[in-house]
Amino acid sequence: MKKIALGVCSSISIYKACEIVRLFQSEGLGVRVIMTEKATCFINPYLFTSLTGERTVVKLFDDQQRPIEHISLADEIELLLIAPATANIIGKLASGVADDFLSTFYLAVRCPVLVAPAMNESMYLHPQTQENIRKLKTLGVEFVEPDTGYLACGKQGPGRLASPESIVHHGLRLIKSREPFRNKVFLVTAGPTREFLDPVRFISNPSSGKMGYELAREAWQLGAEVILVSGPTSLEVPAGVYLEKVQTAEEMRAAVEKHYTRADVVLMAAAVADFRFKKALSDKVPKSEIAGRLDIEATPDILEELGRQKRRQLLVGFAAETSQLETKALEKMKRKKVDLMVGNDVSRSGVGFGSDDNEVTLSWPDGRFRRIPRASKRKISQEIMAEIEVLLNERKRNS
Ligand code: CTP
Repeated sequence: MKKIALGVCSSISIYKACEIVRLFQSEGLGVRVIMTEKATCFINPYLFTSLTGERTVVKLFDDQQRPIEHISLADEIELLLIAPATANIIGKLASGVADDFLSTFYLAVRCPVLVAPAMNESMYLHPQTQENIRKLKTLGVEFVEPDTGYLACGKQGPGRLASPESIVHHGLRLIKSREPFRNKVFLVTAGPTREFLDPVRFISNPSSGKMGYELAREAWQLGAEVILVSGPTSLEVPAGVYLEKVQTAEEMRAAVEKHYTRADVVLMAAAVADFRFKKALSDKVPKSEIAGRLDIEATPDILEELGRQKRRQLLVGFAAETSQLETKALEKMKRKKVDLMVGNDVSRSGVGFGSDDNEVTLSWPDGRFRRIPRASKRKISQEIMAEIEVLLNERKRNS
């Protein structure tokens, strides 16, 4: 099991460190917590010991520790994350002071270091703190910027510890980033489109966007630059991902076209509405007149257009079916010149549209199939990225 070290300092936001531990554990990582002595005034180390199943380290010299614990632990970890990080620890790291376990440990590790500051806004914006952060960045330390909002001191401004989700998301990129994904541009579409009749009525579908957002998150963690073109959803955009919001198929087509030439991989996970009204009206239509106004036409097939213009891009399509999944997915793959097709049966309950889970069949132009049994959309997106990595490596070998 891969392992990270979480350094925890004395900030009011210390309670969020528990959630950070949990989120890393849910990604299959072990966590060893290191607390500063002052942090133990806020939380007893035993809380983290219980959460992690490993003794929390506080003191540099302690009878219960392995000899030279800071050196042996440094060899075991993939990431040192300090969250929350106070102005004091940032100052110590920047100047090389090693007077407790955490600051000494920082000098001993060779893995990536990520720091999530949390403090009062005047302290955070103080030129000394900013200078320390700049210096650490030049030394290769990465930072998760604090959020702006209400602070424990009653003031408002930058200094709130970033959300645990966003801290863990950054941390996972440092651990998981892989060569085939680095310096690659991933263009991902997600969610439904809305084709309006008038300002209050539209044609759409039940897509929640979850599959596309998970793919965007995963691609970013693996090291890619990610552009997410999203129809209306209620989902939070993963940090680091560039978002283009759209409503209609025509807007999605324009946004995708704008980024297509730069893209190395396109994942067309959006459920584009197949029809639109020939005339979208700016005034609300009285319901008595609607029946006479339902004149519809097909929307452009974005993926088919991308297939026709394809140069070096790797195209991943999604086929939503209710019957004959494999045959229909194969036909769409050929027609749209797709390199990898992800087919799913949207008639099954608990998977597909709107669900947290999915169950898919991957197919390739050479006739190969692979069924991925029911799993979370996060897990499915990891499996899809593993297959994309194979295709990217194949291309590299053949180029
Ligand atoms: N797609 C697209 N533009 C459309 C419709 C679909 O780019 N106007 C893309 C989807 O994003 C998906 C793939 O084409 O990656 C297949 O979508 P799907 O809805 O399964 O198939 P359709 O081509 O719309 O065919 P049908 O509705 O007849 O099954």
